[in-house]
Amino acid sequence: MRLTWSDVTPKPLWLSRRQLIAGATALAASPALAKIEAAKSAYSTDAEPNSLEDITSYNNFYEFGTGKGDPAEYAGGLTVDPWSIVIDGMVDKPGTYDLADVVKGQPLEERIYRFRCVEAWSMVVPWIGFQLSGLLNRVGVQPSAKFVAFETLVRPEEMPGQSSPFIDWPYREGLRLDEAMHPLTILATGLYGEAMPKQNGAPIRLVVPWKYGFKSIKSIVRISLTDAMPQTTWNMLQPQEYGFYANVNPKVDHPRWSQASERRIGAGLFGGRQDTLMFNGYEAEVASLYAEMDLAKDY
Ligand code: MTE
Repeated sequence: MRLTWSDVTPKPLWLSRRQLIAGATALAASPALAKIEAAKSAYSTDAEPNSLEDITSYNNFYEFGTGKGDPAEYAGGLTVDPWSIVIDGMVDKPGTYDLADVVKGQPLEERIYRFRCVEAWSMVVPWIGFQLSGLLNRVGVQPSAKFVAFETLVRPEEMPGQSSPFIDWPYREGLRLDEAMHPLTILATGLYGEAMPKQNGAPIRLVVPWKYGFKSIKSIVRISLTDAMPQTTWNMLQPQEYGFYANVNPKVDHPRWSQASERRIGAGLFGGRQDTLMFNGYEAEVASLYAEMDLAKDY
């Protein structure tokens, strides 16, 4: 039998999400079902999170197919333990790190973030994760590094979407170093107090809440520090439509649709349309990163 996340999540936990999760002890023998202890964060929004059902059934994860339901249907077969991440390039301590080692010593927090897809839908997700800056500081970024590049696992035998050459696998993403070091940028290992569901990017993914969702790369196996702007999947596919920065901006439309508003998933067919906020509502925190840029050009 395949359990869904609502089967394994004790209801009181997601009903009392305002309470501190810290103090909860590991519930189950299986690590996938273990509760994650995490402190609340001042960076969380007060907006009501989407249901676990919404977050785990409406996904983009092209390694499992292009349909919104494909990840939930096909990601169950992905092996996420053991898992390791290669950290290389311009770092003092390059190497292949086991996931447990990557996470070791990093303070886990619950971060309730708005999440805005470039396709003009949005959700609110209660992630569990830690600041990417914590990991980068640990491995020692060298002064020559200017960008961080990320890659997702390539394993076609477990990722049926990878049999299609439509994307030049691996899925790739990248950030400028100051974006990567920003306190809002996290590596997430869970949501709703549980280990990351496979369709959401188990066992570890990036979350950059002021950028369109495609920047938040899933199931990461490589993090490289570099001095050149890295190639990124959507920019490689459609450079006129998807820039490297991909900051949420209601004033810069996608060539094929408006970005001025968004459909909040789960808010009902007619009631769910809302204005899109500059930098997805994180303008006060991140606008200074782009003070020198023309946002209409450098999208
Ligand atoms: N990461 C990988 N490896 N493959 C993908 O197809 N899709 C991106 C992003 N990260 C994607 C990915 C897109 S387009 C979005 S909107 C988000 O993941 C969706 O995250 P979610 O399914 O957790 O909502």
